[in-house]
Amino acid sequence: MRQNNLMEAILGELSATRFNKIEHVSEIGSTNSDLVLKASELPDGFILISDHQTDGRGRFGRQWVAPPFKNLLFSVLLHPNWQMERNQLVTPALALATVEVLESLGFRATVKWPNDVVVEREGEKKIAGILAEYVQQEKPALVVGMGLNIEWPQEEDSAPPNSTSLKACEIEKDRWEMLVEILKNFEKRLVEISSEKGSITFRQAYIARSSTIGNQVKVEKSDGKIVGVAIDVEEDGSLVIENENGITLITAGDVIHLRKS
Ligand code: BTN
Repeated sequence: MRQNNLMEAILGELSATRFNKIEHVSEIGSTNSDLVLKASELPDGFILISDHQTDGRGRFGRQWVAPPFKNLLFSVLLHPNWQMERNQLVTPALALATVEVLESLGFRATVKWPNDVVVEREGEKKIAGILAEYVQQEKPALVVGMGLNIEWPQEEDSAPPNSTSLKACEIEKDRWEMLVEILKNFEKRLVEISSEKGSITFRQAYIARSSTIGNQVKVEKSDGKIVGVAIDVEEDGSLVIENENGITLITAGDVIHLRKS
């Protein structure tokens, strides 16, 4: 399909959602960085997708590396219409949306807190990562980007440890179809987190797909680490850890699953 027709077809599929404009580029530094720069000019629901990133960015200043054409690399711009404290739920919402697409393909996937999409394949392997950036401006914006491993890495590839791809999991699905299905689910979850009642439904669905809750975990935070049992996720998305010192709420950090408790 010619490029313009393909983009039109994607927007047609997404006509019932807020995702209403799409730009596809063959190469870019980072789709997130680009949308952050243009956040004041672009409408809510703008999608930027690239075949390749030369400076892909991950959480905590890490890099996000993938060969050209092999992964789904996109960011969306949102002008939030929910309360500020719900911004923390946006990346879990995208993770959950992705897990649901994988489930519809017959594959069990879960969310590792806060928003890594993982699958069970000789241990827990990461298949997608999400980075959200808040843009403070007159009309505040959120840029939410996802890297979903479609055809890379496979077993023989040198790649970040504990990562996998749809292809390595024997799922043949093209990145455009994945994009459409993920964004349809994401829309549904964004509607949920914008209301009090919907947030309750969202939290239940998130907890049901969490591979973190019920685990003995180590959480590495900017100000130190904590070990304990992950017992719950609060309404604002914070992780609840219980250990000999009591209860601690975590808003940001890297979680390592130690064992099921
Ligand atoms: C992580 O797990 O550390 C988050 C990775 C997020 C990667 C995606 S790829 C598309 C978008 N653009 C970026 O530079 N990063 C995100």
